[in-house]
Amino acid sequence: MAKSKKKYVCQACGAVAHRWQGQCGDCSEWNSLVEDAPATVFSQKHDLSSGGRAIEFVDLHRPGEELVRRTTGLDEFDRALGGGLVPGCAILMGGDPGIGKSTLLLQAAANIAKAGKEVVYVSGEEAAGQVRLRASRLGVADAPLKLASSTSVRDILTTLGAMEAPAMLVIDSIQTMHSDTIEGAPGTVSQVRGCAFELIRYAKETGVALVLVGHVTKDGSIAGPRVLEHMVDVVMSFEGERSHQYRILRALKNRFGAVDEIGVFAMAAKGLEEVANPSLLFLSGRDEPLAGSAVFPALEGTRPVLVEVQALIVRLQSGATPRRAVVGWDNGRLAMLLAVLESRCGLNFSSAEVYLNVAGGYRLADPAADLAVAAALVSALADKPLPERSVWFGEVSLAGEVRPVAHAGLRLREAAKLGFVTGCGPQNGGEKVANMKFSPVDRLSKLVDRVMANT
Ligand code: TYD
Ligand code: MG
Repeated sequence: MAKSKKKYVCQACGAVAHRWQGQCGDCSEWNSLVEDAPATVFSQKHDLSSGGRAIEFVDLHRPGEELVRRTTGLDEFDRALGGGLVPGCAILMGGDPGIGKSTLLLQAAANIAKAGKEVVYVSGEEAAGQVRLRASRLGVADAPLKLASSTSVRDILTTLGAMEAPAMLVIDSIQTMHSDTIEGAPGTVSQVRGCAFELIRYAKETGVALVLVGHVTKDGSIAGPRVLEHMVDVVMSFEGERSHQYRILRALKNRFGAVDEIGVFAMAAKGLEEVANPSLLFLSGRDEPLAGSAVFPALEGTRPVLVEVQALIVRLQSGATPRRAVVGWDNGRLAMLLAVLESRCGLNFSSAEVYLNVAGGYRLADPAADLAVAAALVSALADKPLPERSVWFGEVSLAGEVRPVAHAGLRLREAAKLGFVTGCGPQNGGEKVANMKFSPVDRLSKLVDRVMANT
């Protein structure tokens, strides 16, 4: 006997509740719970050990079978993918609206089409004319790309089923797609999940490389269906500040490659341009040192990127609660670092507003940024510039120790290559680098002394 239970699914995070609530208990979003198609719950135990078909076992090793990857014609895109598109893979491309997802995919699709492969680009957001206009702006209007504007998964799969499978299929975006076998408006979790399931099945059966564009919610996760992240092989995120030129393509999950490689692009008048050497991209290019600015040799996968961390401290006269504002770094991490500077190094930030900015719209995720942020904060507090052409890296513990980080040598070598002459980091930063004076610090208090003395 089967009985069905109602359930409600949060459209923002995918959490399931068994009764309707005004606010999601998981992500605190308001009015996001929507009744999901009822699931059938079997209350009786079934014997599943007979009646099925035999499944086939295969060997793990099959000689001659190799992963062939197809280049997108954009090295930076290939790099982030781990070497190019794998046939039959499903990719979810997330990013803020207007960041350049459609632009990037149109460029990649046009490149593949120009290389003689069949590519289908389905837009559910723009009319074919709009996409054509964009293509002519990008200078790829002559690519033999199959373009369509549709939001019906049934129409798309019927059409594709009647023709030879293309090499690549782009669906822009999954939230606009609709399947008539599932109840609910486009964009709801059950619709998004159902449509993605059908499209991914088609990709697996035919070996098409499928790219689904997914919108991102306020808090940065790919909208609605966290479930989508489990269904696809690769989750990519296209990031950047819309007001800045630079965009970073990052793989958050990759069943076919490493997730720590990034692709760097610059949004220009003729679409996205690849940035092959991003080291200097995020530096301000100014020569004379200013108080509150520290350069951090960050590492993105295997690529070093030098970024400038800027701090501003404003002393408050009144007893108002001081503000702490961060752009490009973690808020909680700044609070922690301020607490360590106060309790382990005797500095006082309690009556001061603290602003922290990572230049160039870059977002720091590397834990080794702690020391550079600390150096910028102390330099801003003391109003003393850090030594000229110096770089700072290291992780800071709650006890105020500077802890070792990965690839110290690589960071220092890149800095030296770009004309930096001093480096400050954790003790094991050891390896000797030509033209670079490395002075280790083991405690944050020593860094404070050093900045205060300006040596
Ligand atoms: P788009 O690819 O439509 O973003 P998404 O699909 O992620 O929403 O990118 C739109 C932005 O890119 C738009 O604000 C204008 C900018 N842009 C350029 O600067 N140059 C260009 O050549 C193109 C096509 C877009
Ligand atoms: Mg778009």
